[in-house]
This record gives sequence, structure tokens and C-alpha cells, in this order.
Amino acid sequence: MPISTKPLTASDFVVEVAGVDLSEPQDAETIAELRTALGKHSVLVFREQSLTSEQQIEFTRHFGDLEIHLVRQYLMPEHPEIIVLSNVGADGVKPTANGGAYWHSDISYRAKPPLGSLLYGIEVPPEGGNTLFADMYGAYDTLPDDVKRKVEGRKAVHSYLERFKAMRSIDRSHKGEDKFELDEEQKKSFAPVLHPIVRTHPESGRKALFVNDGFTIGIDGMGDDEGKALLRDLNVHATREPLVYSHAWRPGDVVFWDNRSTMHCATSYDPAYTRTMHRTTIQGDTPY
Ligand code: OGA
Ligand code: MN
Repeated sequence: MPISTKPLTASDFVVEVAGVDLSEPQDAETIAELRTALGKHSVLVFREQSLTSEQQIEFTRHFGDLEIHLVRQYLMPEHPEIIVLSNVGADGVKPTANGGAYWHSDISYRAKPPLGSLLYGIEVPPEGGNTLFADMYGAYDTLPDDVKRKVEGRKAVHSYLERFKAMRSIDRSHKGEDKFELDEEQKKSFAPVLHPIVRTHPESGRKALFVNDGFTIGIDGMGDDEGKALLRDLNVHATREPLVYSHAWRPGDVVFWDNRSTMHCATSYDPAYTRTMHRTTIQGDTPY
């Protein structure tokens, strides 16, 4: 069945997709249309979905193999393809409050960062707890020429360990959160990686800025202060209002984002509200 899309942003960087029930088996034509839509728009919003974990996994698999997150403490025990983000704990996973409240592209600290992620809002606050998305095609396109020249062909350093330490320093154990440590194997798999600051999207052929506040810690071949200052400027540039969409969640929303051309950031909410989400993540390629 053909899909129809309605822009949620002036630039049509985010669209609402109608005509697809994600719980049903999909034909090749629908998947091809969704793939094209993702290359074109970067964030696809599906409303009023009702998915079992098996159905979410099956739908996500149409776009590639699924990523099993290395921080396995958040994985659903019987379906490790699903990360459970819940402030009350759910599905056998301890509570996690507002884990992604910094600008990031999921798992950019791996050599092959994910293609994209699907986040399913099961129980969401009536207000607050929005997820912000930044258009990294737009961020690249609007960079001043001298900055474009400065970053073209350069690489940045991505690492999870500093972020992990920063998150750990916030003690949320009073909320029932688990203050777990990474084991040696996890630490080894989080060795820093280099990615081009400007990447070419393999499907759209467009250039996107590919650095993020959460996991990018320096610029290859630049001093620490200079690199961090440039990263700060790039982040400020990429998160200016015209490039950002704020998603106000309704229960049953599924948001499918392209991790190669966006960053996202969780926002706060009244912890008296329950917020439970399931994420599946699609494996990606080496950025170039
Ligand atoms: C994620 C994420 C943000 C949110 O699921 O990858 O960063 O608002 N979520 O929960
Ligand atoms: Mn995330």
C-alpha cells in the first residue's frame, strides 16, 4: 500500500507517515517507500501504533540487522534487540531516568554507528519529556564557508567512556536506578574511534555534519582546547531553532530516525509521570 507523508517541519526534515500499521507484515513496496522517505526526510513519525516486542523487532529488521547495545544492563532479557527506557523500570529492566538528555547520535562511538533507531512510546507524560531532533544536513548546508573548509576532510574522536563517567557522577540511586559499572570487556569495546566530521549519506548522497555533544570528545590533529572549542561551536550551530524539531510524544507514537543525518536529545519532565519506551536499533556502515 502506498504511504503518504505530511511535513511536521518547514523544511520537511520530519514527516508524519500515514497508511502503515507497523504491527502487520509489510510488502517490499512499502519498505522501499519508507527507505526512500527516510533518506529524504530523516525523521518519520507513525501515530497510534500498537506493537508487541516481536512485531517491533520484525518491522525494524526490514531495514537491516539489529544492533545489540553493549550496555546490556538496559536490554530486555528475552529480547536483547530492545532497549527499555523507563523511569519506573519495566520488562525486567531497572529504571533509567532521562538517559539521553544531551545531544547525540546513537552509538556514534562505534566504528560502524547505527543506520537508525525506532523509538516506541508506550506510556508517556501528558507534557514534557519531548525528544528534540536536529537536522544535520541543514547544519552542514548552513555552515559558513570558512568553517566548511576547516572541517572538510577532517576527523573527530568519538568515545563513550567520558559520557559514561559523566552520567555515573549523577547519583540517581534514590530513584531506584542501578549504579552499575562497565566490565573490562565493555570498556575494551569502547575504545575511541575516528569518524569524518562531514559524512556523505550513502542513500541520499547528501553531506551531513557528523559530530555530537554527547560522544565527540576531540578533533583529530587539533589541540584539545581548539578541538573542543570548535566542537562546541558546531553543536551550537547545529542546534539553532530553525534546525530543531521537538517531538511531543503521544502514547502509541513510533519515531524512526536516521542516525546518519540527525542528532537527538531527551528533555526533562515531571518524574511523577511514567515514561516507558522501547527502542530498536539498526546496524549501519562505516561513515565516509
Ligand atoms: C534514545 C534516546 C531520547 C528520549 O532512545 O536513543 O536518546 O527522549 N531517547 O527518550
Ligand atoms: Mn539516543
